[in-house]
Amino acid sequence: MKDNTNLRNFIGSLPKAELHIHIEGSLEPDLMLKLSEKNHVNLKYSTIDEVKKAYEFENLQSFLDIYYEGASVLLKEEDFFDLAMAYFDKCARQNVKHIELFFDPQTHTDRGIKFDIVLNGLWNACENAKQRWGLSSKLIMCFLRHLSAENAHETLKQALPYKNKIIAVGLDSSEVGHPPSKFKTVFDEARRQGFLTVAHAGEEGPPEYIWDALDNLKVSRIDHGVRCLEDARLVAELQKKQVPLTVCPLSNVKLRVFKSMKDHCLKKLLRANLLATINSDDPAYFGGYLNENYLAAAEALDLSHEDLINLARNSFIASFLTKEEKTKYLKQIDSVN
Ligand code: ADE
Ligand code: ZN
Repeated sequence: MKDNTNLRNFIGSLPKAELHIHIEGSLEPDLMLKLSEKNHVNLKYSTIDEVKKAYEFENLQSFLDIYYEGASVLLKEEDFFDLAMAYFDKCARQNVKHIELFFDPQTHTDRGIKFDIVLNGLWNACENAKQRWGLSSKLIMCFLRHLSAENAHETLKQALPYKNKIIAVGLDSSEVGHPPSKFKTVFDEARRQGFLTVAHAGEEGPPEYIWDALDNLKVSRIDHGVRCLEDARLVAELQKKQVPLTVCPLSNVKLRVFKSMKDHCLKKLLRANLLATINSDDPAYFGGYLNENYLAAAEALDLSHEDLINLARNSFIASFLTKEEKTKYLKQIDSVN
């Protein structure tokens, strides 16, 4: 096998932002089992090997079924704190400077966990990570699209007392059959309340869902968006407006959006001058954190150092940081040689 030490080191040396990470998807099997024991939650698995064996996915839904089961071990504020701190520790080791992380409150409130338990655990971890590693982070609250719009409205209501701690709302879970327009009124209300908006679209769903998210939800970014290439007019629009796409290479291969990494469209997105970024999605389930995603894409698609620098630059440009903060991080990238 080719020695990839230089490439790995180069990726590690780049300051990066991560904009598409579901914090519940960073639950590693060892923490999952530890919490299931501590909180007396029965899982189908009792060893790490058994958990990992379940991670063979046919599509998005087959993953989500396992992901929601894994999240059932999270009960206490300290569990959410520990979960996020384990992820931030990985970020600190991988030279990830800024993180905009998704959380799915309905996955927990539907099990009787109070919204403030989830929010406080995650928020305290964000504050702690700033102190401990100098990491900057923001929270994005996602609505589960397989649930009703009324349920999303109820969740938004619960979030209002915390609106200064949540930068944006997003939309995730089962895509096909749940178009963005289903959530138009709740996104309208969220924007009125001062939240920015993002949405998963064009992961398994068609390019029409990307149009729908842009037109009806007024999103600042599209999460995934890889199917945009099927619609030339959409590509032109995304290019003209420089709408960021938060692409997740390992996820897309694991969930069979692409047959292999060599078939992934990331390089085509870059060559079309789209504002594509690399992200890990659900790193504990898909076999890698941010640097592993950069490495897998770089090797399979033969990305140059210039491509990798562009991807790292895009990650800050596409973020919800201020202009001054973006400039600071872009300068740090410029000083990498
Ligand atoms: N929730 C966690 N990961 C997801 C993904 N890749 N797509 C949609 N919803 C998700
Ligand atoms: Zn996602």
